[in-house]
Amino acid sequence: MEQKEVFLKSEGDKWFERNKECLNGVPKPYEFYKIYIKPGFKILEIGCSCGHDLDYFQQYYNCKCYGIDPSKDAVEEGKEKYTNLNLKVGTSDKLEFEDECFDFVIFGFCLYLVDRKFLLKTICEADRVLKNG
Ligand SMILES: C[S@@+](CC[C@H](N)C(=O)[O-])C[C@H]1O[C@@H](n2cnc3c(N)ncnc32)[C@H](O)[C@@H]1O
Repeated sequence: MEQKEVFLKSEGDKWFERNKECLNGVPKPYEFYKIYIKPGFKILEIGCSCGHDLDYFQQYYNCKCYGIDPSKDAVEEGKEKYTNLNLKVGTSDKLEFEDECFDFVIFGFCLYLVDRKFLLKTICEADRVLKNG
């Protein structure tokens, strides 16, 4: 079975269950993004879990935030908790967004979980949805 099927079926939810209590408590190098992100940017996080990092970008950079993750539980909880985010269930190899519609795309520490055979497709998809420049 492909890794992405495992994550869609159960492992995404299991990861979320194991980690959800501490997702907001982990200090992240958000300052690092300052040089790349401008207020109002449209951002996509691939592997966003419940969208806890996107919530930061929404609040502090006033960005329009979108996220995908294979965990139905994480996406469901994120939709309830962060109503300003646009979250959906999905995987990195098939992004259901139009071409060149995002200013910034983040891989949310998920590339190590992507099936090797979908790695190039994953990079192509990120490039496809990212605006030129
Ligand atoms: C290590 S967690 C990181 C979550 C969050 N971005 C963070 O930094 O706290 C990796 C996330 O990637 C998701 N994931 C696993 N396989 C994926 C895939 N093929 N495409 C997109 N996300 C995936 C998992 O469900 C999990 O939520």
